[in-house]
Amino acid sequence: MHPTSRRDALITLAALAAWPAFAGGNARAASGADDLCANGTVFDAPLPRSGRDGWMGYFDTDAPFVLRAGSVDAAPFPLAYTVARDGRRWQNPILVARAGSTLRATLANALDAATIVHWHGLTIDSLNDGNGDRVATPGARFDYAFPVRNRAGMYWYHPHPHGITGGQLHRGLFGVLLVDDDEDRALGTALATTRGDTDLVLVLGDRRASSRSSYAPSAVDRQAGYLGDEMLVNGVAHAWRGVATRGYRLRILNAANARTFRLALRGDDGTLIPFALLGTDGGLLARPMTCREVFVASAERVDLWVDFSTRALGDSVVLESLAFDPMHGESQASDAATADTHGGHDHGSMNVTGDAMPSTINDGARLSLLQFRIRERVAASPPPPSTLSSLAAPRAGGDDAVPFRLSFAKSRWRINDRVFDMQQEPLIVPRNTRQTWLLRNYYTSMPHAMHLHGFALRVLAREQSPDFITALAIDDQGRLATDAGVKDTVLVWPGESVRVAIDFTCTFAGPQDYLLHCHNAEHEDGGMMLRVRVA
Ligand code: C2O
Ligand code: CU
Ligand code: CU
Repeated sequence: MHPTSRRDALITLAALAAWPAFAGGNARAASGADDLCANGTVFDAPLPRSGRDGWMGYFDTDAPFVLRAGSVDAAPFPLAYTVARDGRRWQNPILVARAGSTLRATLANALDAATIVHWHGLTIDSLNDGNGDRVATPGARFDYAFPVRNRAGMYWYHPHPHGITGGQLHRGLFGVLLVDDDEDRALGTALATTRGDTDLVLVLGDRRASSRSSYAPSAVDRQAGYLGDEMLVNGVAHAWRGVATRGYRLRILNAANARTFRLALRGDDGTLIPFALLGTDGGLLARPMTCREVFVASAERVDLWVDFSTRALGDSVVLESLAFDPMHGESQASDAATADTHGGHDHGSMNVTGDAMPSTINDGARLSLLQFRIRERVAASPPPPSTLSSLAAPRAGGDDAVPFRLSFAKSRWRINDRVFDMQQEPLIVPRNTRQTWLLRNYYTSMPHAMHLHGFALRVLAREQSPDFITALAIDDQGRLATDAGVKDTVLVWPGESVRVAIDFTCTFAGPQDYLLHCHNAEHEDGGMMLRVRVA
């Protein structure tokens, strides 16, 4: 371990720990009674329905379309992506694409800043990827055309202009891309689900209620990530949804800039309700896995099957985030450091743009997200089929693992001690090779949601995981249920190392530039990002 980085990390982490919003413990969560609604949540807003148009409506990508990034009135956020077709309008449409089809979209930039759309999770050439090397200036357009090469899954799209992604995302620019194929349709038939009714897309996020539409990160926010104090599902706080006594497919995306959710479902009697994990970032698992909780970091997705058939009419079930300590064990280290360095963290080159009050709800606090109200009695659903897909087990790379150190020094989060800059020499990966990467997080650090563009990650092992992760392991490699699927983003806890296999098969002509970065949007904007050139 590098003494300088470690000391820097201690100093800053001490400053973060001293900040109420980021105190390592969970005073707030721990003091909450074991009642139905953590933080006394009253669910008084119906969850918006995703329909044939409007906010988060389903939009078929079978014909070319224009995605306009700009201000809107008819959406929960000041900005949205809008599309229009046949007299109908959508905001942040759920794009639906058939595997193998060609997606043709034109980004129209109606913002007052540069932007670009990145297709998160797709196997795509670097020009269409939207990696930020090319952007659309205000008023300009950018054309995308690419075959949808991925298997079915819940992918998403969001801005990627280097250094200003966090603000655009936070002010409302995000959307889901559902890819659909024969396996997924067969599952839909087996489970008798209907999109928008018993097959729901839930996008999680958080905002600051006092200034919901503004984004003004302080120096601390830039280091810790921008946390809100109001939890949103599909743009709505305190949302509820009426359901029937059958199974529901919940496809959940964490689109929060920085917050990690530890998702669980709690019944009226206070007990947690098991659910089946059907899929992750890149589609269906081979087999459903029964879980009581799953962690979902920024940009990660989970596909859950929740069965309400044993519930009584009038009951409710709450989608919660359970308490956890993101800085597990670090609070002690930080407390020690706080004694002599209190308030002394160095802003360095951090750009302090605002004086906003930091969120008062720390990462890891217990949260109530969405209430399901059992309102209708219907025939129970069959359980999910025992085989969901033909997903093969991951295969490790032939050579030694390539190490990536996630660290903090001189006020900046780094990968292999470097801060991103557009001109830097990329990491070169020979195409058509299979590699194992070892993502190593320092003990004095934060959780980092590490994301690679263009290629799937398959988790091989988790090492030195915190206790609350080890407790969820499903095998001797320390993997979690969510690690059994195809991933494009993996959360690496402080002190933890995650081994991932990557197949760099690449059919695109010429060198292709991708990015490896933390999906905590403030870490990404701050340069916790590395260019990866597949040559
Ligand atoms: Cu979802 Cu480079 O990002
Ligand atoms: Cu991405
Ligand atoms: Cu990070």
